Amino acid sequence: MRTPFIAGNWKMHKTVNEAEAFLKELLNKDLPSGVDAAICAPFIHLDRLVKGTNESIGIGAENGHFEDQGAFTGEVSIDSLSDLGVDYVIIGHSERREMFNETDEDVNKKVLKALEKDVIPIVCCGETLEERENNTYTEKITTQIEAAFKGVSESDAKKVVVAYEPIWAIGTGKSATSEDANLMCQLVRETIEKLFNKDVSEAVRIQYGGSVKPENVKEYMSEPHIDGALVGGASLEVESFVSLLEGAKNE
Ligand code: PGA
Repeated sequence: MRTPFIAGNWKMHKTVNEAEAFLKELLNKDLPSGVDAAICAPFIHLDRLVKGTNESIGIGAENGHFEDQGAFTGEVSIDSLSDLGVDYVIIGHSERREMFNETDEDVNKKVLKALEKDVIPIVCCGETLEERENNTYTEKITTQIEAAFKGVSESDAKKVVVAYEPIWAIGTGKSATSEDANLMCQLVRETIEKLFNKDVSEAVRIQYGGSVKPENVKEYMSEPHIDGALVGGASLEVESFVSLLEGAKNE
């Protein structure tokens, strides 16, 4: 049985003080048990969030560099995220792939580094609208998954979280149907099974992401291959975040 997992991806929203206030308010709520929760925030917010949280809310970064140190102006190493006590790191979000030229090879290096440093990677994959329309989307997803897991050991692979996020559904209000999202998450699981075995593929948690909100989260969670959600817009308000957690509870 996989524990449901809701992760907020704040992207470049909120100041440090706003983030801290959000966390305080969230921790005062009656949060459902049996659902893992995390907030992924900009680098500069992480120290205060890590210090302010308790075991009910994990803290994640939205990116990290695979080198421990070096001449990489403006970057933050996964090593220093680990040192800070960060629990998760989003790797290969489509916005980073598209706007900051992250390649499948970079994603793989980051995944390996995160696992080495005991930070759980949330690895993103997803197709563009064009790839969906010209029917190359399944190939796109399998290629991204195969690349991300290259060189990962069986025991480490079980710790990885994958987020399937069709790019055409991110921030657009156009979510994938739950059936379609489930089929894609199943494809991710089958690809992982081929790379490792069923023991690993059954352990890996797969989230759907793309315009998930309190109103549709239950529908996604009722699908057998969807174990949670990576949520942008709807993770920015406390009430909405709590509703997402409520909706992700195993019934
Ligand atoms: P959205 O973003 O929920 O605002 O569509 C999801 C994401 O980019 O992770």
